[in-house]
Amino acid sequence: MKTIFLSGGCGYIGSHTCVELIEAGYQVIVYDNLSNSKEIAMERVKQITGVRPIFIRGDILDAVNLEKVFQNYKIDAVIHFAGLKAVGESVSKPLEYYHNNITGTLLLLQIMRKYNVFDFVFSSSATVYGTPSVLPITEQAPTGNTTNPYGTSKLYIEQILKDLYKSDPRFHITILRYFNPIGAHPSGLIGENPNGIPNNLLPYITQTAIGIREYVGVFGKDYDTPDGTGVRDYIHVCDLARGHILALNHKKAGVEIYNLGTGKGYSVLEVLHSMEKACGHSIPYKIMPRRSGDIASCYCDPTKAKRELGFEAEYEMDQMCEHAWNWQKKNPNGY
Ligand code: NAD
Ligand code: UD1
Repeated sequence: MKTIFLSGGCGYIGSHTCVELIEAGYQVIVYDNLSNSKEIAMERVKQITGVRPIFIRGDILDAVNLEKVFQNYKIDAVIHFAGLKAVGESVSKPLEYYHNNITGTLLLLQIMRKYNVFDFVFSSSATVYGTPSVLPITEQAPTGNTTNPYGTSKLYIEQILKDLYKSDPRFHITILRYFNPIGAHPSGLIGENPNGIPNNLLPYITQTAIGIREYVGVFGKDYDTPDGTGVRDYIHVCDLARGHILALNHKKAGVEIYNLGTGKGYSVLEVLHSMEKACGHSIPYKIMPRRSGDIASCYCDPTKAKRELGFEAEYEMDQMCEHAWNWQKKNPNGY
């Protein structure tokens, strides 16, 4: 049985990936400082799969503690989710973001090399494409012009990974550029658990639908899109999680980059209306000014992931909303 180390595995995407890994027969070690998650997610993973991941509370910045894990377990591969991800906060706390995301990654990679662990999957983001000039976005599209330290940290880490491989071809590195993960496990036992007022659209909509928020602010209705609201490539978090298993199984040397999205764009209002179907009532919204830093449309060309990894998203928007709503209803205040 192969053992996979998940940094940040208690979080939203990490916990869903735990489920997929356990169901695919892997042993899972989760290493998380719980700065943006709760350990109860591990119990919930056990409720779904019958297996509780090995959980170690720790910081990737704590090299001594991190190294102990590599001493104590024979690790076959690492999936690196740990990171701070709040775009707005990254603008006001750039040093904290760069330190956590970049230094943390450097320490993890150094320890991997010391313990001869060379399989690495990295959580990157569509944000590295900046403002795309051509849609759909392929992996060859130019990167750069990120508008905030969060996005820039992903861009820098991608560069570090490419340089690392050049220096040491024993590494097998997969960079996954996620588009917009939403939804929750169909059981409603695990899901997205934002701290405070959500920045992202989906949790804001579900919290409005359940009555925690008064209305959804729709950021801009004057974009060059079919209904004037922003268009994004939303992907079910379980589909995304499955993409990580395919990435682990794909044995191609080097640094490979894949978009993980559906290839379809949905507007803010389309998502809102789909959630209305899921929850069975209307959801109040107000048109607001554009949010600074936002782009009109962003969706990927998913061909490379399909061709090389055999990855294809299965869930449609209505199911993504049903599952997000199921999670929200069962956990009105999160975990
Ligand atoms: P999340 O915040 O739910 O999960 C990240 C986890 O990392 C949390 O459990 C947090 O406690 C942990 N963590 C943070 N810093 C740590 C540290 N120094 N040491 C140990 N643990 C630490 O976020 P998520 O949505 O699951 O995202 C996972 C990864 O995917 C992140 O790297 C994020 O930037 C990236 N990503 C997310 C999205 C998205 O929309 N959710 C999109 C693109 C990329
Ligand atoms: C944002 C981040 C991106 C990050 C991603 C996932 C920005 C500029 N980008 O992407 O770096 O990788 O989250 O964490 O923050 N919207 C509303 N009302 C809301 C919230 C959002 O209308 O209350 C709209 C936005 O304008 C956008 C769409 O909904 O058109 C999706 O927004 P969001 O969920 O924040 O994701 P992104 O902006 O795509």
